[in-house]
Amino acid sequence: MVLGFEYKSSQIFAFFISLSLFPIVSLILSKSLSTFCIVLMPVAVSNPFAVQSYQVAIYSHAQDIPQFALDSLRYHPVKSNTILPLLEKRMNQPPSNNGGEVWVVVHTGLDVKFIASVTCGAMGNYPLFIFTPIPYSYLHPSAISSPVYLLAQTLLRSVHRSRIYSVFAPQVVAEVFAEVWSSLTNIGVVQKPYYHAMISYVTNETLTLRNISSIQGAHCELRPATLSDTNAVAELCFLFASDSEPFLLDREGAMYEARTLIQSGQCWVYTVTRPYEPTKIACLVAYTRNTNVAATITKVVTHHQFRSQGCAEKLVGRVCLHLLATKRYVSLFVGITNRAANVYRKVGFIGVGEGAQPVQDIDPYIELGFDRKYVQLGHW
Ligand SMILES: *[C@@H]1O[C@H](CO)[C@@H](O)[C@H](O)[C@H]1NC(C)=O
Ligand SMILES: *[C@@H]1O[C@H](CO)[C@@H](O)[C@H](O)[C@H]1NC(C)=O
Repeated sequence: MVLGFEYKSSQIFAFFISLSLFPIVSLILSKSLSTFCIVLMPVAVSNPFAVQSYQVAIYSHAQDIPQFALDSLRYHPVKSNTILPLLEKRMNQPPSNNGGEVWVVVHTGLDVKFIASVTCGAMGNYPLFIFTPIPYSYLHPSAISSPVYLLAQTLLRSVHRSRIYSVFAPQVVAEVFAEVWSSLTNIGVVQKPYYHAMISYVTNETLTLRNISSIQGAHCELRPATLSDTNAVAELCFLFASDSEPFLLDREGAMYEARTLIQSGQCWVYTVTRPYEPTKIACLVAYTRNTNVAATITKVVTHHQFRSQGCAEKLVGRVCLHLLATKRYVSLFVGITNRAANVYRKVGFIGVGEGAQPVQDIDPYIELGFDRKYVQLGHW
């Protein structure tokens, strides 16, 4: 009933979190220096936030994340796609000077409420990502303000405020965090969201591959990109970024991204070769956040010249077929007003596209930025 569409972007800043609403809290420093505990007034209601206390811990090494937190992320392979893939990668790397990466876990006993990460990828620093295992309908601003406040406070002790250039999370969570963070740091929230999207996924059971004819009079291939495609892939990365304000790329950045994607084997292309013409790349699909169980499509770009010819549907479908041979889910985010949602829907992504019915866990996500005078923009 309370699906995210109730929170339209025009209303994002309509609600105002009064600090006086926060329950009276007492801060107890526990034995472990990294663990703080906030004790709240007991409330006897059966919802995930009607608890007596929240605990919080912050970790700077992936290897230290407790098992119950990992289990919670792994139990939700789609929702955790912004955090778990990199966390697992770091767990398999020797612990070293990690460039300031941290993870914050807010929990009650073994019950995870929120996990936040401050991490970086090949192209730069990531936003603050926040995961919650709790169904969206329970994420009411007044219910989550205390644990989110605790998260923000804990983060601010370890991370410089200039590092948090934006927050990307389920919409209500990001909105509450942005307000709280703004009040703690005196850094304003950028009014226009950087990104407003729905999460979705496809499985073997929902995958639909329509028989779309290839481009007429040309030899077409759907295949993993190779280094000989670097220039064309870079062109499409450049195009993609130019549409992703404020995360623009220059030509050099686009070349670097293209090489990184191709070398890591996380990029497929739809090539078109007409007689007597050099091969062109009509469409590109990249998937960069992957675990053994789930892959995440992070980029789909169709060259202007090849729009509206079914290229994206064909390539996304082909890539999902490839990924679903070994993984249970392929997830992605799609902009709330992006017509590509209809393409994904045709391929079998659930809960998105025209006329889609609400589906459990197909929730709205939002990225809210902080005043760029005081933060250093990253890239993702
Ligand atoms: C797909 O469509 C083409 C013509 O567009 C047809 O020749 C081919 O047999 C079809 N394949 C399948 C599996 O339906
Ligand atoms: C999905 O289906 C394919 C083909 O039917 C199969 O080989 C693959 O193992 C399935 N994937 C999973 C994760 O079950």
